[in-house]
Amino acid sequence: MDASSSLTGKAFEAYRQRRLALIERMTRGGGGIAVIPTAPEQMRNRDAHYPYRADSYFQYLTGFVEPEAVLVIVVDSSGAAAQSILFCREKNLEREIWDGFRHGPEGAREVFGFDAAHAIGELDAKLSELFADQAALWYSIGHDAGWDQRIASALNAVRAQSRTGKRAPATIRDVRAELDAMRLVKDAAELAIMRRAAEISTAAHIRAMRFVAPGRFEYEVEAELLHEFRRQGCEFPAYTSIVAGGANACVLHYVGNDRVLRDGELLLIDAGGELTGYASDITRSFPVNGRFSGPQADVYALVLDAQAAAIEAVRPDATFAEPHEAALKVLAQGMLDLKLLQGSLDAVIEAESYKRFYMHRTSHWLGKDVHDAGEYKQGEHWAPLVPGMVLTIEPGCYIRPAEDVPEAFWNIGVRIEDDALVTTAGCEIITLAAPKKIADIEALMRDARGG
Ligand code: GLY
Ligand code: MN
Ligand code: MN
Repeated sequence: MDASSSLTGKAFEAYRQRRLALIERMTRGGGGIAVIPTAPEQMRNRDAHYPYRADSYFQYLTGFVEPEAVLVIVVDSSGAAAQSILFCREKNLEREIWDGFRHGPEGAREVFGFDAAHAIGELDAKLSELFADQAALWYSIGHDAGWDQRIASALNAVRAQSRTGKRAPATIRDVRAELDAMRLVKDAAELAIMRRAAEISTAAHIRAMRFVAPGRFEYEVEAELLHEFRRQGCEFPAYTSIVAGGANACVLHYVGNDRVLRDGELLLIDAGGELTGYASDITRSFPVNGRFSGPQADVYALVLDAQAAAIEAVRPDATFAEPHEAALKVLAQGMLDLKLLQGSLDAVIEAESYKRFYMHRTSHWLGKDVHDAGEYKQGEHWAPLVPGMVLTIEPGCYIRPAEDVPEAFWNIGVRIEDDALVTTAGCEIITLAAPKKIADIEALMRDARGG
C-alpha cells in the first residue's frame, strides 16, 4: 500500500506554506542555500534498529518520514526563483520486499509537491554544484558530526574550483534559528494534530486510572497507556512514560516502572502519545486505592491550586515566566502552611528554599518535540506569549523523608501537568478531559471498581 495515501492535496499545503515562510525569512537574510537533513537510523544492537523517527525540523517542512533524506532550499537574493529540492532513497524492489514501500524521488516530488527530487546518492555531487556562488549557506552546525563533515567536503569542493571563478558561500547562517522561531507559533494543521494527540493521551490516562489497583505493577499500567496510544493511532509514546508509585514519584525522571503498587500510596503518571510527529505531555497523580488520604489530599490540593494560578497567568503579552512565578507563590505559601518550610513567603521565594520540594520549572514549549524548539528569552527578557504557542503547565511537590519534615507527608510526590494553547482571549487547556479534581478522580476510580 502507498504509505502516502492519507497525505494528499490539502494536507501538503501546510508543509508548502512552511517552506514558503522559510524562503521568505531566507530572502530577508539575503538568500542562499539551506540544507536540512533528516535523522539517521540508529542501530540498537546487532541487526535491530531503534524505531525510526524523522528529524523534527525536516518533518516540519516536508511531511516526509523515510530515512536517508535531505531537503535543500535554494533562494536567490530576490526570492523570485526559490526551489525546494528533496534528496531521498531510490525505489528498489528488492529492498521494498524486505523493508517496505519507498516513494523514490519522482514519487516523492509528485506526492509531496517539491520542485525537484533526486536520488540521495547524488547529494554530494549536487551539493557542490548548488553551493557555488550562493550568498550564504543556511545550515545548523554541530548536531551531527557526519553531516558537518559532508557539508565541509561540499564547501571544499567549491573552494577547489576558485580558479574557474566559482565561489563558496561566504557566510554560514543557522537555519534552525529561523525554524525555531517559526515552530514556536503553531499553524492550524499543527493545532489539529496536537488536539487529537491530546485527546488520545487523555483517554490513555483515563484508561490507566480505571486499571490501577493495589497489587498491580507499574509496568502493567505502562502497558495500558501504550495500548491506548497505539490503539488510537499514535506512532510512539512522545517520551518514555513515567509510572511512579509511592516514593518513586519523588524521582523526577523515574522510568524503571517495575515496582508493585501498594495500598495507601499515590501513583504519578507522566505520559503522552506522539501523533503524526506531535507530542502530548500530561501528568496525573492519584491514589492507588482510589481514595486520597488527608495528607495526600493536602499536597494534591496545593499543587492543583498552583496549577490554576499558573493557568490564569497564561495570556497573550504575559511572559513565559509569569505562569511559573504564579505557581511558585502558591506553592511556597502552601509549603509554609503545611509546615514543610518555616519563615515568611518573601524569604522562601528570595532564598529559593521551596526548591527542596519543587526543583523544576512550571512550563516548556510543546510541539513536535516534547521539550519543543524555540527560545525562552529574547535578549535579557522572557519571551512574550503569543496566540498559537503551546506550553505545558506542570507544577509539582515532591517530599522526601527527612527529620525536619512532618512524617505524614513522607514520600508524597505530586505533579499535575496540562497542555495550554495561548489564545487571543487567554488560553485553552487541550488536555482537560483527563480528570484532576479530587472528587472526579475518586468518582472515576469508584466507578471502575463497580461502585
Ligand atoms: N514528560 C516530560 C516533561 O514533563 O517535561
Ligand atoms: Mn512536561
Ligand atoms: Mn510530562
